Amino acid sequence: MELYIDTANLDEIKQANDMGVLDGVTTNPSLIAKEKTDYGKRLAQICEVVEGPVSAEVIAIDFDGMMKEGRERAKIADNIVVKLPCTVDGVKACKAFTDEGVRTNLTLCFQPLQALLVAKAGAFLVSPFIGRVDDIAEDGMDLIRKIRAIYDNYGYETKLLAASIRHPKHIVDCALAGADVCTVPFNVIQQMMKHPLTDSGLEKFVADYKKAFG
Ligand code: G3P
Repeated sequence: MELYIDTANLDEIKQANDMGVLDGVTTNPSLIAKEKTDYGKRLAQICEVVEGPVSAEVIAIDFDGMMKEGRERAKIADNIVVKLPCTVDGVKACKAFTDEGVRTNLTLCFQPLQALLVAKAGAFLVSPFIGRVDDIAEDGMDLIRKIRAIYDNYGYETKLLAASIRHPKHIVDCALAGADVCTVPFNVIQQMMKHPLTDSGLEKFVADYKKAFG
């Protein structure tokens, strides 16, 4: 399973990239707004740090606006993936970008039929939001499992990117369900290598060594 980081914070991206296990980055307008910097400039800075796909979302919600903004974003760097919403205009823009050879990430996916249509339109990535589905007392993982089954039934090549990850258990469940990619906030990436028995075991190994060998 590929691991992306879900942030627009450069320090977080650099720290995760330094671990050597980062495959890409997802951003959204809310994440870039938090950084209080220029939207396009921050995307360019991220693309300088990470070689893998960097999702850059459009703000427009109409077809023409999405095409204009998406083409501008695609010029920022070769690894930009244009992020579009799962709407009728979004799926039309997805098909048009696919025909132009531009990769897309279809975001705000909340039901399997959205994932089916964007796969037909040639999306490179689809982003079902697990946490936000859980937030309304539904089962986010069920959405992942259904999309996986539909894509496997018909051999769609769109990568299933699990988004809105809130905790490590989401990542384990995504890996078991066959998600192609998980995009994870930095604080949750840090938790992935944490276990109290690793910490206490390491402490004892070091203490025993020092006692015996000084
Ligand atoms: O980048 C999209 C997604 O991961 C947002 O997550 O936590 O705002 O629902 P969240």
